[in-house]
Amino acid sequence: MRRKIVAGNWKMNYDLAETELFLVELKKQVFPENVMVMIAPAFTNLNHAFNSVREHPVTIVAQNMHQNNEGAFTGEISAKMLKSIGVTTVILGHSERRAYFNENSTVLSEKVNTALENEMTAIFCVGEELKDRKEETHFELIKTQLSEGIFHISDDAWKNIVIAYEPVWAIGTGETASPEQAQEMHKFIRKTIAEKYSKEIADKVSILYGGSVKADNATEIFGQEDVDGGLIGGASLKVDSFMKIINAFG
Ligand code: G3H
Repeated sequence: MRRKIVAGNWKMNYDLAETELFLVELKKQVFPENVMVMIAPAFTNLNHAFNSVREHPVTIVAQNMHQNNEGAFTGEISAKMLKSIGVTTVILGHSERRAYFNENSTVLSEKVNTALENEMTAIFCVGEELKDRKEETHFELIKTQLSEGIFHISDDAWKNIVIAYEPVWAIGTGETASPEQAQEMHKFIRKTIAEKYSKEIADKVSILYGGSVKADNATEIFGQEDVDGGLIGGASLKVDSFMKIINAFG
């Protein structure tokens, strides 16, 4: 059975006090047993968040990291630094990183390698822009993002990979992919992994959907056969809406 995951990507939101306020509330909640709950706060709050939820079933995740283990890379954070504060899961290739920070497949494949070498779990994001969908090149584009970013890893490494499908046109726009569109792409991603690796590997990979998931559409999206959870932006910033999304699996 695949892991069900609901991960909140806070992006550049919440300072230390706001992070703790949220976590105090989150720690009072009971999660469905079959769901892994993750939160990705800003780098500055990772250490505090990790210690704050130490006794609770919440995984603290980094939103990014550098591909090198150390060196003259002003302003960057390494895998070793993350691991030194207990953080062993990292989001890689989010569309905002690709678009605003020029992270291409070469850099992302290096980041994937660094995560795996450091025995971290990577949530590897893929997603097409609206123009790709309009031109009906979205399947090809997703296949390319997978091929160039992650299809060099070993069979065994897949146990440390989660895929997140996030259509860029649905991120923060209020426009969600329909449950059918999400299922169609998740099924395609699984098939693509099966063709390159094996059905056994593909069937074990959790594939999350991200893009305007809210309390009122989560049940339908998570009800799709190949959707194993969500990477949630805006709606993860309030405990109430985040819990409704988590409980959509309950
Ligand atoms: O990482 C999260 C995604 O970018 C989705 O963000 O739920 O605000 O659309 P959103």
